[in-house]
Amino acid sequence: MPAPTPENSTDDSSPPFEIRPAGRVLRLPPYLFGRINQVLYNKRRAGDDVIDLGMGNPSDPPEDLVIEKLAEAALDPRNHGYSKSNGILNLRREVSSKYLKKYGVRLDPEREVMVCLGSKEGFSHMCLAMMGAGDTAIVPAPYFPVHTHAVMLAAGNVISLDVADNEQFLSNIAYTCQNLYPKPKLLVCCYPHNPSTVTVEPEFYVELVKLAKRYGFMVISDFAYADVAFDGYQPPSFLAAPGAHEVGVEFTTMSKGYNMAGWRVGFCAGNAKMIEALGIIKGYFDYGMFLPVQISAILALRHTEAAVEAQSRKYQVRRDALCDGLNRIGWDITPPKAGMFVWAKIPEPWASRMDSIEFATKLLEQGDVAVSPGSGFGPSGEGFLRLALVENEARLRQAVRQIDRCLSGG
Ligand SMILES: Cc1ncc(COP(=O)(O)O)c(C=O)c1O
Repeated sequence: MPAPTPENSTDDSSPPFEIRPAGRVLRLPPYLFGRINQVLYNKRRAGDDVIDLGMGNPSDPPEDLVIEKLAEAALDPRNHGYSKSNGILNLRREVSSKYLKKYGVRLDPEREVMVCLGSKEGFSHMCLAMMGAGDTAIVPAPYFPVHTHAVMLAAGNVISLDVADNEQFLSNIAYTCQNLYPKPKLLVCCYPHNPSTVTVEPEFYVELVKLAKRYGFMVISDFAYADVAFDGYQPPSFLAAPGAHEVGVEFTTMSKGYNMAGWRVGFCAGNAKMIEALGIIKGYFDYGMFLPVQISAILALRHTEAAVEAQSRKYQVRRDALCDGLNRIGWDITPPKAGMFVWAKIPEPWASRMDSIEFATKLLEQGDVAVSPGSGFGPSGEGFLRLALVENEARLRQAVRQIDRCLSGG
């Protein structure tokens, strides 16, 4: 009898050959949260009421007029064909108007603004457009995973620099550029920063642009939390710094301030050459955003600024409830000035006893509170937790009570 070969095998259970993903997929770091996600899944299946502060996924809806416009536009048979991959001009014009009104930044909607299927898609494809084998990007540490992984998927290398202190971050960038060969090609910044909540003032970007020009690196500013700020603080736009257009772009999104995360509406603005390259890549990958979504996004940008500000105030109340509560039970929390998260140092004695994954798993298993372990944002996130302000004030107070009870129980 001939030995079984892939051609004559009758065993349907054995695969005919090994399916091997590409190197770019295999190069990505291992997934750390298998166990914690399994616990969350089991609890949900068992009907447990878990207070979920894990993901920055807004739980409030967009304004009624935006949803009504979506429904109306969807009823128009002319709105169901392919759109343009860089977005309709009127939406790009609306983005330009917002930049002018809010930041005093002039943008040519034809060449300097691009519509993306969420800023994450735009950011990832921008990395693909700009980075290749042998290129290096500087990213902030701890890092929002996309900042690192999009560079890796584009075959680039990553150097991560501690983001905690603004002055130190700038001088570390200069040091890296002076000592690394080939020099970094790209710098990713993100303020208000996810996960650390670090913020900057406009002077920071003035210095950053000077460094970019001196050392010849491009800048991508991820401005996802532009619209969520507290106590009168206004997060500055990178593009408002003199010369920023010459060296980089900025991504904004309607996911956070406008509660439109599932709609996937983001924007890239700034350097025309970078935007042109992004457009070329996107032209191969997508046919643009569903027209009714773009039409409703125009309306949201034009008419719902007051709701965006009200949403920020809501996050501020939640921030106070969570930070006051955690400080009351003995944690040492600095309330953030902006963004949707609290970045919390794990208190003693727990910090000496367990890592952030073990601690987050304990809070979930014994306290029914889900949070993100800091190590999910790279090694420099170890020792921290990220808590998203996506539940209401009463639920956040309840979360603190549950955490307190869980930790008091040993
Ligand atoms: C820093 C940062 N950038 C980008 C994104 C992605 O936003 P979008 O929904 O526009 O893709 C997020 C979402 O959590 C984020 O925290």
